[in-house]
Amino acid sequence: MNPNFLEQKPMLLRKHLASSSASEDLQKVLLCLARVSHAIARSIQTADTGGAGSTNQFGEQQLAFDILSDNIIQNHLQQCGVVAQCASEEQDDFVTLTDTAPYTVVYDPLDGSSLFDVNFTIGSIFGVYQGKEVLGKSPRDQVAAAYAVYGPRTLFIFSMGSGVCECSFTEEGEPIVLRKYSPLHGEAKNYSPGNLRAITDNAAYRAVIQDWLERTLTLRYSGCMVADIHHLLVKGQGVFANVGGNTYPNGKLRILYECGPFAYLVEQLGGSASTGEKSILDVTITSIDQRTPIIAGSKSEVERVCGKLKG
Ligand code: AHG
Ligand code: MN
Ligand code: MN
Repeated sequence: MNPNFLEQKPMLLRKHLASSSASEDLQKVLLCLARVSHAIARSIQTADTGGAGSTNQFGEQQLAFDILSDNIIQNHLQQCGVVAQCASEEQDDFVTLTDTAPYTVVYDPLDGSSLFDVNFTIGSIFGVYQGKEVLGKSPRDQVAAAYAVYGPRTLFIFSMGSGVCECSFTEEGEPIVLRKYSPLHGEAKNYSPGNLRAITDNAAYRAVIQDWLERTLTLRYSGCMVADIHHLLVKGQGVFANVGGNTYPNGKLRILYECGPFAYLVEQLGGSASTGEKSILDVTITSIDQRTPIIAGSKSEVERVCGKLKG
């Protein structure tokens, strides 16, 4: 047996959730996220890989599929009836769905969009909060987090606060829990250096890269956060970084849609996800477009990197 996984009998996600302590409504949210991931995986097969001719709230060019995947997710969330509102990287503000429902879902519908036309692995990222207020909360308030990875196989990975489980899908598209991830090792053998161009004006980040090179860690970087963090969760070790320079002082990644959900998943496995100063889970979310530096993965390595970034 692979030591990076804990023993787990394959079980339909629906049954796995029913035997958990999650409320029925939260079970519905998780099932909805898994099913929409499968729907997106299907539409990837025939989707237009070109631009939409529009920009999102961050001023980034949108792909036709950024918009289509956003619509697919919003429609599924609307139909599941237990999501009061959602916020997406591709929308300018929170969108009200079922006003009196108990949860809010935040998501990046298509992560790694610049890799879509070259057929590299891409993904979707989801965070789930109780109630309608998210601003003023922190990612630690999430009641669940999940992502879908669209690689040679489509996988759906989630946590509701008691470990991290991986699902694949039956031929009929029914999500099935296959395995549970083991805690991350404290030491990292792999490194994933995002926003690497920042080393031209951030000497501390340059020193971190130099340290990884000198210690002969192995580079594993695809340019899709989902794929890069999925790599370290499956391998049971590694470190992912996206820190700032002059162009992006807080790095490129957003707390609500990207860093918050992954911080929740990494810390579920005993790893760390830090801004360089504190846990990402403890950052107060003040706006939907807030960015944060992130250093995530194996605990000792994250501490070492944070120490070097402080100088
Ligand atoms: P998105 O496709 O949602 O805009 O996100 C892309 C992000 C993330 O997936 C990745 O880690 C980062 O951009 C890559 O940035 P660099 O190429 O600058 O390292
Ligand atoms: Mn993204
Ligand atoms: Mn995106």
